[in-house]
Order: sequence, then C-alpha cells, then structure tokens
Amino acid sequence: MAYEKLEQLYEGKAKKVFATADPEIVIVSYKDDATAFNGLKKGTIVGKGVINNRMSNHMMRKLEAAGVPTHYVEELSDRETAVKKVSIVPLEVIIRNISAGSFAKRFGVEEGIVFDEPTIEFSYKNDDLGDPLMNAYHAVALKAATWEEIELIKKYAFQVNDLLRGFLKSVGIDLVDFKLEFGKLADGTIVLADEISPDTCRLWDETTHEKLDKDRFRRDLGGAEEAYQEVMRRLMGDAEG
Ligand code: TMP
Repeated sequence: MAYEKLEQLYEGKAKKVFATADPEIVIVSYKDDATAFNGLKKGTIVGKGVINNRMSNHMMRKLEAAGVPTHYVEELSDRETAVKKVSIVPLEVIIRNISAGSFAKRFGVEEGIVFDEPTIEFSYKNDDLGDPLMNAYHAVALKAATWEEIELIKKYAFQVNDLLRGFLKSVGIDLVDFKLEFGKLADGTIVLADEISPDTCRLWDETTHEKLDKDRFRRDLGGAEEAYQEVMRRLMGDAEG
C-alpha cells in the first residue's frame, strides 16, 4: 500500500509526524537534529536520521517476529516510515544492564558495573518538568497508565531487553541501557512505539568498550557520525544499503 504524507501533525526534537489518508496510520520522518539535556544542547549528527530510521525498523521487525507488538507498518524511504497511530503513554521506560549515565550519577557509582539482573525505571514524559523519575504508583495516581498497562509494559520491556541484548551481542555490542516508549491504539491495545536507535540506547563495543551511541554527542567525545555508522554496519552490513 502506498502511504502518502498529508499535513504535519507534530514536530519533536528528532522526528516529525505526518497524517496519511488512513486515520490509523501516520508517517514518521527522522531528522539529523540532535539534542541533549532536555534540548539545552543542540546540534546535528549528519546521517543520523537515516540510520535511526533503518535501525529502528530493523529492530521493530525482529521484535514483532518474536511476539512483541509494535507500531511498525512499513519503511517508506531512508528517513520515513509508516507506523500505527497511537496515543503515547507518557512514561519513558528505561532498562539498564550496566551502570551508566543518570544511574551512575544518582547512586554515586562508576559506569560499567554489570548488574546480575536488569533494572527498570520510569520517568514522566514531560519536557517542561525535565522528565522526572516516577514509580508505578505515581503513574497510576496521575492516570498516565493503569496497573494492567504497567504490568504489560514491564513484561514487554524485559522481553525487548532480552531480544535486543542478543541481537547486539551477536555483532559485538553490549547493550548498556535504553529507553522505550509505548503507545495505545484506538482500541486500547498497548504497542511498542517511538524508536530504538543509538539516540535511545547506550551501546558499547564488547571488547574496547568504545561508546557507539549518542553519548559521543552528549559528552563532546567526537566521532558521533562514525559511531552511528559503525552500529549500522555491524547490524545491517553497511550504513547505506
Ligand atoms: P540516563 O542514564 O540519562 O537516564 O539515560 C538512560 C537511557 O535512556 C540511555 O540509553 C539514553 C536514553 N535516553 C533517551 O532516550 N532519552 C532521554 O531523554 C534520556 C535522558 C535518556
């Protein structure tokens, strides 16, 4: 089916969303814009939009095949994908396998501690508030989600972790941590939404521990473009085709 972009519905920090003639389908278009620290730091990672689009779709297809419902419908071009229209559950779901980032800072530990079991945390998706950490009781009190939805989201998030860890390990990458977002279809079904990319995951080379993700931009390490291309090359053979 040929989906065509109609009016723009939304522009976020890394993607735009367009309507289509089908009320249940929207088109996401990935930008090269990079932000960090809730938009305080702004820049461009050339080619990021293409890589995030293609990597995210690759992962969503694999997750679907393994039984995790996602919003993915069809890749339309290098930067554009048709996805099911959802209302986003305003919870950012973060899974961690190895200490890093805000976990290391909050608990005063070094980065790189390998956990015996993955951790899960939620933050409230609200840029004005800086996405504050929240627990399940807070989410239910704020009607961000019901207990049933939270249980399902947790189950899917850990399944995604197991699957992604395996896919990435097979190409020599350790999945340190990542952020997921879920959405609700018109009938209330919960599906995995948003993206899975080096913007939303910490990815370390398993032997050198080199950072192959957006931390290169957040921390001014240089080589962000090359790192994104390297992940793409390992997962899909090359950064272009
Ligand atoms: P954190 O250590 O800064 O809390 O980040 C945990 C993971 O979530 C990391 O893989 C990066 C990802 N993340 C996002 O995708 N969006 C965000 O806004 C933030 C803060 C983190």
